[in-house]
Amino acid sequence: MTTSRQDVSLGMPQLPATPYPAEVRARLDADAKEVLARYPGSRSALLPLLHLVQSEEGYVSRTGIAFCAETLDLTTAEVTAVSTFYSMYRRRPSGDYQVGVCTNTLCAVMGGDAIFDTLKEHLGVGNNETTEDGKVTLEHIECNAACDFAPVVMVNWEFFDNQTPESATQLVDDLIAGRTVEPTRGAPICSYKDTARILAGFPDERPGAVEATGGAGPASLVGLKLAKGEALPKARVVSPRAGQPEDTRPQDGQPHDPSPSEHLSSHDAPQQTSASDPEHPAGPAAEEGE
Ligand code: FES
Repeated sequence: MTTSRQDVSLGMPQLPATPYPAEVRARLDADAKEVLARYPGSRSALLPLLHLVQSEEGYVSRTGIAFCAETLDLTTAEVTAVSTFYSMYRRRPSGDYQVGVCTNTLCAVMGGDAIFDTLKEHLGVGNNETTEDGKVTLEHIECNAACDFAPVVMVNWEFFDNQTPESATQLVDDLIAGRTVEPTRGAPICSYKDTARILAGFPDERPGAVEATGGAGPASLVGLKLAKGEALPKARVVSPRAGQPEDTRPQDGQPHDPSPSEHLSSHDAPQQTSASDPEHPAGPAAEEGE
């Protein structure tokens, strides 16, 4: 139940890309001119131009690559190399909403794996596949530097913090039903093509969209507060480890500077080293075969 294609050319020669229709080309030429004017060197405009062609077709097609190459006086190989390096450029037609579930280590153990499995089942698609109605493309994503809000889900690059399988299911149902969906920080979600145009550097003209841009959330600011010696809220961000005495927790909102003995990770535990392990004493390394 997917519209995903595995269109790998295996190095076979391909026909030249189909050009854009004349009126699309004229519109993109005008937009590209505006983008190029922002940079002293034209090739610096490649990343926004790739977003621009995504805003036209929803992915970076061979036509889009040819357009960027011609506009910036680059080879199609150079443009392809850049567009396939960054994961924000899609290589095949995909859904209106790119739903990325962070399954990197921290999010995974905090529930990201369970969210991904739930969405796969609920949507009937696998990784990098799109629902039949063309609405949602599901994918694993790597750490998005929002670990303090793990597990996170992204829709068209907007954050949804502290998700659960249930909240993520509701999220995709809302997207598919066309309901307004607001991320944890930022303006309501728009389509992938509209998002791509904003990323190309064109203004988000929806009323209130710019003002809706969010800042750092409380969990992100804990480290900053500690560094400034400011009082922390009484609630802990992380649960105490099993066995950790209650009186080592922060009291009265004061920052707590744990003693080395309170660091109970495996890195800090006594290790069996060659000096302390009589069965594996230090000595000259044996040559192979000895
Ligand atoms: S591990 Fe998910 S945002 Fe960092």
